[in-house]
Amino acid sequence: MTTAEKHEFPMARTCPFAPPPAYEEIREGEPVSRVRLPDGGWAWVVSRHEDVRTVLNDRRFSADRQHPDFPALVKGEAASRRPDEERMLIAMDAPEHGPARKAVLGEFTVRRLEALRPRIQEIVDGQIDALLGGPRPGDLVDSLSLPVPSLVICEMLGVPYADHEFFQEHTVKVIKQSTPPEERWAAMVAIQGYMADLIAEKEKNPPDDLLGRQIVKLRADGTYRRTALAGMGLLLLVAGHETTANMISLSTVAFLRNPEQLAMIKADPGKTLNAVEEMLRYFTIIDVATARLCVEDMEVGGQLIRAGEGVLTLGYSANRDPRAFENPDELDIERGARHHVAFGFGPHQCLGQNLARMELQIVFDTLFGRVPTLEPAMDVDELPFKDDANIYGLYQLPVTW
Ligand code: HEM
Repeated sequence: MTTAEKHEFPMARTCPFAPPPAYEEIREGEPVSRVRLPDGGWAWVVSRHEDVRTVLNDRRFSADRQHPDFPALVKGEAASRRPDEERMLIAMDAPEHGPARKAVLGEFTVRRLEALRPRIQEIVDGQIDALLGGPRPGDLVDSLSLPVPSLVICEMLGVPYADHEFFQEHTVKVIKQSTPPEERWAAMVAIQGYMADLIAEKEKNPPDDLLGRQIVKLRADGTYRRTALAGMGLLLLVAGHETTANMISLSTVAFLRNPEQLAMIKADPGKTLNAVEEMLRYFTIIDVATARLCVEDMEVGGQLIRAGEGVLTLGYSANRDPRAFENPDELDIERGARHHVAFGFGPHQCLGQNLARMELQIVFDTLFGRVPTLEPAMDVDELPFKDDANIYGLYQLPVTW
């Protein structure tokens, strides 16, 4: 029987390539247990693969991040919530969520994305040209990891890339745990305002880009609202940025530390997509993205969770659960890791997952093909890992070749 919180959240890592050691302790001891949150409140953590999928696939757990009782992962965050503001897709529940997701789903089908492949390849090649033409060592984060997903999502949405510094700066504020709540909110409002202005311009003569097509489609359905589309545009812009960028940097380091795994994709690029799945599992960079609020009592893993209680599904623990993955702490690109939960699970499962997979595949095949002598320009343990951000990754990755 659980009585009190033995752990504080977030928990500290001791190795940049592994979850906090407390995750295993929880998963193998009391797999659904209480943790103390930064604002003094508490929430349940759910740590086993099966239980994480159960929670994420059940309507008794709400994704409404603006609800006053939603678990606050950053001190003071709850106080800066605006329950009356419009919810973005990621914070919607049924029945609102389904139709909102369906409206944009067609933009992310494998078929649609395949049509973008040549352009993504061109973008990746251009960035690698710039890296190779620049000074040595160069920073992979600046030259490749950030610009690739950023250029791709900007082109898809029809957002001028020239404005990327503006929203990148604000996005970082939204993501950093140390940003004061008021500043986080102001950053959100600034990017939302930018997006609303951009959309207002597109309304006059909707162009053939994602936002333009949405205007036309939603107008035809009679459901068009500028603020709603601005929220969607903002979510896509933010969600498609830092996530993929950090996966590029972290996976590059992991490949370079595991030359035998790298040799396998070089010898057979047909293996790169499997390697991408394994990297997603191995790093699970947004472990806390899948918090929920219980809205109806439910038993999970033998523990009763009551309406009104917060739940953190620990995706990184689930993805290292030996019940779901053999030798889970080993990086093994041939394991077949597709059932990982790095993109979440259930109705909110990542909308951009196929795009992310394609970007990562193209980046790894091209980078290691074109720069076979690539290596980190500093000791891997000294690299600036993002221990203070909600999305794990690297601030810089100095490389040479
Ligand atoms: C949702 C991870 C890339 C757009 C999610 C969720 C996770 C996630 C864990 C679930 C959140 C929840 O259950 O509450 C990732 C990772 C990525 C990535 C690890 C890169 C490696 C992208 C990209 C885009 C994107 C490239 C868009 C271009 C979204 C959207 C949602 C979402 C719109 C919300 C879906 C919904 O609520 O129905 N992502 N994501 N993501 N992601 Fe991603």
